[in-house]
Amino acid sequence: MDSIIVTGGKTLSGSIPIAGAKNACLTLMPATLLTEEPLTLTNTPRLSDIRTMSVLLASLGVGITSLEDGQKQILSSRKIDNHVADYEIVRQMRASILVLGPMLAREGHAVVSLPGGCAIGARPVDLHLRGLESLGAELELRDGYVHARAPRGLVGGTFEFPVVSVGATENILMAATLAKGTTVLKNAAREPEIVDLARCLTAMGAQIDGAGTDTITVQGVDRLRGATHPVVIDRIELGTYMLAPAITGGEVELLGGRLDLIGAFATKLCETGISIEQTATGLRVSRPNGRVAAVDVVTAPHPGFPTDLQAQMMALLCTADGTSVLEERIFENRFMHAPELIRMGAGIEVHGGTATVTGVEKLRGAPVMATDLRASVSLILAGLGATGETTVSRVYHLDRGYERVEEKLSACGAEIERVTEDG
Ligand code: UD1
Repeated sequence: MDSIIVTGGKTLSGSIPIAGAKNACLTLMPATLLTEEPLTLTNTPRLSDIRTMSVLLASLGVGITSLEDGQKQILSSRKIDNHVADYEIVRQMRASILVLGPMLAREGHAVVSLPGGCAIGARPVDLHLRGLESLGAELELRDGYVHARAPRGLVGGTFEFPVVSVGATENILMAATLAKGTTVLKNAAREPEIVDLARCLTAMGAQIDGAGTDTITVQGVDRLRGATHPVVIDRIELGTYMLAPAITGGEVELLGGRLDLIGAFATKLCETGISIEQTATGLRVSRPNGRVAAVDVVTAPHPGFPTDLQAQMMALLCTADGTSVLEERIFENRFMHAPELIRMGAGIEVHGGTATVTGVEKLRGAPVMATDLRASVSLILAGLGATGETTVSRVYHLDRGYERVEEKLSACGAEIERVTEDG
């Protein structure tokens, strides 16, 4: 199992290229199941989650050609020859449930394993299922699998999400493209990844209005065609690396960075005293001398502050001047980084979904353990600003969502290395 060793205290300067969005790619790839023609995705990130989705799609009969060192994928589902998404693959990644809507819409039947629990909370899939039922799907849960049928095809309908769900919006949006008639999705998720999916589906011939607002209207079509689509940049990777110079001091440009994708987060970062400037090539982030100011953060669906940046923001606020309150409103049990940050000298108290962070002058390096994807990168960020050495173990979580972290950060002057241990 690999570990990452960070020796803190280096000021960062330079530039970091931002990859295509993992979460966008994980819904764009299953969209290939909607058409017999090839779907070409460019700007795809090189991550283990993307490889897991490739394995799942290949198990269904999708042909995948990976080009340009993994940054271009050609997916071809001319024929779907297996309609069962197996537990052994699905359990590795919750986003696997996203094959259900497209496969059902095109084939009229699909069997997909329930993803099961996950480290950051219960994360049910009831909304995915209820939404598909509103399009006429007949569902049965048996032996841990969803058995879905729509013998005469899906039929457009109106579905109002009781809570905003990114994945359920994506699943039902994809299914609705091939349903008969009009589908209206109310209280839909507005994340940039939904907009990106809608763009790709539109290029494939789908008729979609309102993506990026809370009401999406889809006029079903008989068939979709192939397309070429560049994956939107990863706003979570962007936000994560914006926090690196914010924590260490210095100035870094995030290449490809766009303020419009990251408004609520950027506003909070500015409130702490960090400067952010949109340039022609990306976002330039710099930290003036002295400590950052404490701020309160409440996570919310887009355009609110993203839950996927809460852990990393906490790493910054650990050394803010004053007390910050972070409220996690999307997932229960998403403060697993807090005990690890406390091992580094942070002043954090967690009560339910609220963490109170009393800033200290400096964190101290320590051996810490990654518990999930965003928690692991928050510990690396904390280590960059700490005195001494921080060893982050179990970094396989990190590899699910960040490509070449060590390379990107060391190119800006960070002292960071990966240690591979045998056995
Ligand atoms: C996606 C992102 C994840 C991000 C999350 C919230 C992907 C691959 N992952 O996850 O990185 O943290 O959005 O921005 O895109 N819920 C239900 N029933 C459902 C579905 C969701 O109750 O059927 C609840 C969840 O438990 C959670 C909330 O709705 O409390 C939001 O979850 P959702 O937006 O669905 O997250 P994901 O799509 O799984």
